[in-house]
Amino acid sequence: MEHKKTNYTQEELENNWVSRFDKIKNKAIPLMFIDSIVPGHNRLNYAVIGDTASENENYNPIITEPHGFQIGMVKAPKGNGPAYHTHEYIETFFVLTGKWRFYWGNTPEKVEGEIILDEWDMISLPPYMYRGFENIADEDAWVFSILEQHDVFDRPDPIWDPKVVRKGEEYNFNVDKKGKMIPPENFSELEKEMASKLKMGEK
Ligand SMILES: [Fe+2]
Repeated sequence: MEHKKTNYTQEELENNWVSRFDKIKNKAIPLMFIDSIVPGHNRLNYAVIGDTASENENYNPIITEPHGFQIGMVKAPKGNGPAYHTHEYIETFFVLTGKWRFYWGNTPEKVEGEIILDEWDMISLPPYMYRGFENIADEDAWVFSILEQHDVFDRPDPIWDPKVVRKGEEYNFNVDKKGKMIPPENFSELEKEMASKLKMGEK
């Protein structure tokens, strides 16, 4: 087998292949999805590696070199996390801090079970299975996600439980047919408020 030689430099590695929390801590997305504004689903999303299923177009992954997967990070306060949804691809979560409850079902209508994960536990969720999760620790807590390679802004993704879409609409958050958020007029104010409420910049 041919052994391909690389010629990276220290500088390239540091600039293009490293994500340092200190540099990205203030670059979270406070309203990445239509549910992010809804109480119980508030969270900060960090796009670490690669483009992904964000309804908010306004975000830049830290590492943009092509990868066969996407990595994101989430911080949520107690009792908050992503609402019930699914994807066409595998989504894996690794708990960095705290305790998280993952609930799941085969259809959007019914939750069929739950899995509680502690620090350093991991769960991998199959394509099309509905899932939601929340931080059940007392403090703010962190998870990171690994998403299988997938199309971006091609069609709605995440695929929400219709009840979640209606809830988002109550807060004037909608998505178009391609899965892009149609934000309310006061979007930037709402984002600032959410960033401050969720203590962006702090671990
Ligand atoms: Fe997801």
